[in-house]
Amino acid sequence: MSSHDAATQTGAVRINPSILAADFVNMQAELQRIAAADFVHVDVMDNHFVPNLTFGPQMVERIQATSPVPLDVHLMIDDVDRWAPGYAELGAASVTFHTEATTEPVALARRLRSIGARAGIALKPATPVEPLFPYIDEFDQILVMTVEPGFGGQSFMADMMPKLRLLTDECRRRGSSVWLQVDGGISDSTIEQAAAAGADTFVAGSAVFGADEPDLAISRLRALGTGAHRH
Ligand code: DX5
Ligand code: ZN
Repeated sequence: MSSHDAATQTGAVRINPSILAADFVNMQAELQRIAAADFVHVDVMDNHFVPNLTFGPQMVERIQATSPVPLDVHLMIDDVDRWAPGYAELGAASVTFHTEATTEPVALARRLRSIGARAGIALKPATPVEPLFPYIDEFDQILVMTVEPGFGGQSFMADMMPKLRLLTDECRRRGSSVWLQVDGGISDSTIEQAAAAGADTFVAGSAVFGADEPDLAISRLRALGTGAHRH
C-alpha cells in the first residue's frame, strides 16, 4: 500500500506540508523534498479575504501536474461559489473553502463532491463551530484554523482546542468519519495537543520546510500525532 492509499484509511493521521513556506521559484524541487507527505497543502489567497496574496488556478494546475503527492487546496478567497469548483476540476484531491466566504456552503460542498474532490470547510478563529453540526456529513474535512489565516510562521492558538474538542465530540456522537484538520503553528511542540483534542489531519508549513530534512520532519510529526491522537 502506498502512503497515499494509507492516507485514506480511517484512523490514520495525515501530515500535509504547506507550500506557503516553500521557495516559490523552485517549486518543483520543493515538492520532491516532501515525498513522504500525505497531501500537499496549497494556500490560495486573494488579498481580499485575507491581507496576503499567493497564486491562483494557473499555478495550482502546474503544481497538480508536477506533484507526486495529491493536493489539499485551502482557499482563503472571496467568491468561492464562483472559484472553488475550478480547483476540483483541475484535479485537486481536496478543496476547502471558508464558511465565512459563502452563504451556501452545503450546495458548494455537493458541487465539489460531484466533480470528484473531497469537500472541506474552514473556520477562522472567531467563527463558532456549532452552526455546522447539522451539516457535518456534507463535508469530508473540517478545518479549525489555529492561527488567523493569511500568513505562515505564526504562533499556535491553544485557545482553539475547546472548539476542536466540541467538534470532535459531535462527530463521535454522529459516528461521522469526517477528517478534522488543524492549520497554523503546528510543530513538534504543538501537534500533540491538537491530536489529543481530536485532529487527525495536520498542516505544517515552517515546521516542515524550515527543517534541514523535510521528510524527517514529516515522519516525526506523524509519529507524535499518531501517539497523541484521540480516537
Ligand atoms: C495560514 C495558512 C497556513 C500556513 C501555515 O493562513 O493557511 O497553511 O501556511 O504555516 P505555519 O505552519 O508556518 O503556521
Ligand atoms: Zn492553509
